[in-house]
Amino acid sequence: MAQPPCFDLIFFGGTGDLALRKLLPALYYRHRDTKDCSGWRIIAVSRQALDTGTYVAMVHAACKRFIPAKDFDEAVWAQFATRLEYLAIDATVPGDYAKLATALADSAERIRVFYLSTAASLFAGICDNLAAANLVTGLSRVVLEKPLGFSLASATAINEAVAKIFTERQIFRIDHYLGKETVQNLIALRFGNSIFEPLWHRAAVRDVQITLAETVGVGDRGEYYDRYGALRDMVQNHALQLLCILAMEPPSSIDPDEIRDEKLKVLRALRPFTADDVRNKIVRGQYRAGAIEGRAVPGYLDEPGIPEGTTTETFVSMRVDVDNWRWARVPFYLRTGKRMQERMSEIVINFRAVPHAILPGNDAGNVNRLVIRLQPDEGIELHVLAKVPGADMRVKPVKLDLDFAETFKTRQWDAYERLLMDVISGNLTLFMRRDELDAAWTWIDPIHAAWAAQSDPPKPYSAGTWGPTASSALIVRDGLCWKEES
Ligand code: BG6
Repeated sequence: MAQPPCFDLIFFGGTGDLALRKLLPALYYRHRDTKDCSGWRIIAVSRQALDTGTYVAMVHAACKRFIPAKDFDEAVWAQFATRLEYLAIDATVPGDYAKLATALADSAERIRVFYLSTAASLFAGICDNLAAANLVTGLSRVVLEKPLGFSLASATAINEAVAKIFTERQIFRIDHYLGKETVQNLIALRFGNSIFEPLWHRAAVRDVQITLAETVGVGDRGEYYDRYGALRDMVQNHALQLLCILAMEPPSSIDPDEIRDEKLKVLRALRPFTADDVRNKIVRGQYRAGAIEGRAVPGYLDEPGIPEGTTTETFVSMRVDVDNWRWARVPFYLRTGKRMQERMSEIVINFRAVPHAILPGNDAGNVNRLVIRLQPDEGIELHVLAKVPGADMRVKPVKLDLDFAETFKTRQWDAYERLLMDVISGNLTLFMRRDELDAAWTWIDPIHAAWAAQSDPPKPYSAGTWGPTASSALIVRDGLCWKEES
């Protein structure tokens, strides 16, 4: 990646969990690995009455906690710390922006990134206040963190308010899954090789499974999470974005709009769910007490900040159909949940069985499979059948395994490192365009409406499992099974 130019990066929500856990450690790494960072300035903004010294100490503690000791160097940190500044600003108070105007007074010629890592309800007001204080220049960009709305209507209201101040090319709607190295590798795998694309369609693919499984519970985010639930928190954005990259037609170039046009076509080809489909093709669950890695954990209803008797889902699995020429009748199964058996995010592409099996062991369950692993480590596996050594011709699946860290022997960038540098260099490829977001909400909204009308409670599952048994039944009904059950 080219050397990032001089920039002022202004974090709204600068003392928040995302800034301290992800964004500032990501910038530490970029600072450490970039030759000339003299033109970088990071201004954290939040309501807390802190001075820069206290804030720097807070970031130091966070970096030490979230960056592995082998990567953290006090001398590098000391240089990085000189790039940090803190301003106590209430983002809802127009008068407070004068402090930001003073800090940015001599830097109108520099790239200016306003990173809004606050509640989405503040986005419109912050943009208005920035404009009123004359802080939005032609070289400015705004980054909008998820959740971008709660429904199509609320997303539209946010987008319209932001669009009054920033042009679409200045707006970076972030989905950190798109910054993961494996997701970009999926693009490389599909469009940099000739061997996969001929197999990338309904004649060769039997089914696709996208799993985003976490072992963590809701932690201290109970209030936010209970309002949103797994469908809005993980499916509307991360799972759908992965599905788009996997299912899209080859773009004619890597230009951001070429790629986003193709992703949009996938979103528009998703078969809408009727109320009956919502009941038959979607399983929603909520975790009960159980054990994760041998440790007892409480159920969702006993987590801090969770209202009694809430029916918010912490798990969703669904069968999705992409109604187009390439994918007709290929089932895509999406699944995500908290407190599941393993932390594991992956895309599994199961190819069709051979038309006529002549070898022992080559039964319908043993198909070629491409696994694109995002978590816990990033890599790609191709499962092929090989002969078991010995007298007979029995075959069994073996893996051709490409582990990125092992192969390239370099540290994998965190998703936020990549995405922050893309914002600074103005590359929109890995960010969602407004019409994509609208299409995703248009598809998601009827599911929520059906759930509200049906008022069936979510199905319980024990923490430390793969979700409610109905999730297995959902796929078994199609004569298939989840990867871990095969
Ligand atoms: C976030 C969700 O977008 O993604 C969280 O709000 C979730 O609930 C997180 O835990 C998962 O991200 P990752 O990169 O750890 O899989």
